[in-house]
Amino acid sequence: MPYRVVIGNNKGGSGKTATTVNLAAALAEEGHRVLVVDMDPQANASRRLGRPFNPAEPVPTTAEVVKAGIDQEGVAAAAIAACGWSGDYAERIDLIPSRFDLENRVSEAGVIGAIGRLYTALAGVDDEYDVTLIDCPPSLGHLTQLGMAAATHALCTVEPEYDGVDGAVRFRDFIAKHGPSLRQPGASGELQMAGFVVTRVRGNITAHAYQIEGLPELFGELLWSPQVPERAAIKDAGDMPTSLRSLGTGPGREMAAVFTQLAKQLMTVPR
Ligand SMILES: Nc1ncnc2c1ncn2[C@@H]1O[C@H](COP(=O)(O)OP(=O)(O)OP(=O)(O)O)[C@@H](O)[C@H]1O
Ligand SMILES: [Mg+2]
Repeated sequence: MPYRVVIGNNKGGSGKTATTVNLAAALAEEGHRVLVVDMDPQANASRRLGRPFNPAEPVPTTAEVVKAGIDQEGVAAAAIAACGWSGDYAERIDLIPSRFDLENRVSEAGVIGAIGRLYTALAGVDDEYDVTLIDCPPSLGHLTQLGMAAATHALCTVEPEYDGVDGAVRFRDFIAKHGPSLRQPGASGELQMAGFVVTRVRGNITAHAYQIEGLPELFGELLWSPQVPERAAIKDAGDMPTSLRSLGTGPGREMAAVFTQLAKQLMTVPR
């Protein structure tokens, strides 16, 4: 079974998409082939990877992939797009983009078999990639559950403030409780928690320092390092959009190196 990592936390703005996109860049630079699946109707990962939805030139997105996935194995292959960044390593990143209509899949959650639609759609599609990263909306609802049911591993972003940590605990506990029932026929095992990435750390905020102190007790060995600090370069790269690696600035390179270390950790997760 391909290595598929669902990235979540039902706390909004906790750095899920920044982690997804920058891990993809770091992995690609290390020579890995990466598929990013955008499971958020906000489509932030799609835009940041240079593939915003353009109504004048519509392309298939996760909205269509999930719908067809009710019975069409491998249908996601038709929606794969190349990353819109320039650079050699960007050629190793592909994307299944999203658009707002993905929201319409939520009301279909009650249809028998609905939860397995992304799993079915991806069957045989990502065998040639070293890892598939699934970016989720800030929710534990149907769209995130589609990602969980398709994935082998889960990665949680933790913003070190009360609500961010709360969201991470909920994400972890949700997987512990519902992971077994999300398992699809033919899957290699139950969804495994791969780790917790501490994001958007502001060194000058006492509350952050206080929350960070409590994280080892909550997440133990699954707590990854280094932490990702809050830096303008990360926001700027996302807004432009481009890769941190092509910003060419000191802070950009420094943050790219943080994600390279996290990417190495991702590739050493037991499978
Ligand atoms: N380490 C960071 N330093 C500076 N800005 C950051 C950092 N991480 C994320 N951001 C910015 O903060 C905002 C929220 O981050 P991001 O979109 O990655 O979070 P998210 O968890 O995906 O949000 P959502 O829940 O809406 O999907 C974005 O504008 C992003 O560029
Ligand atoms: Mg996001």
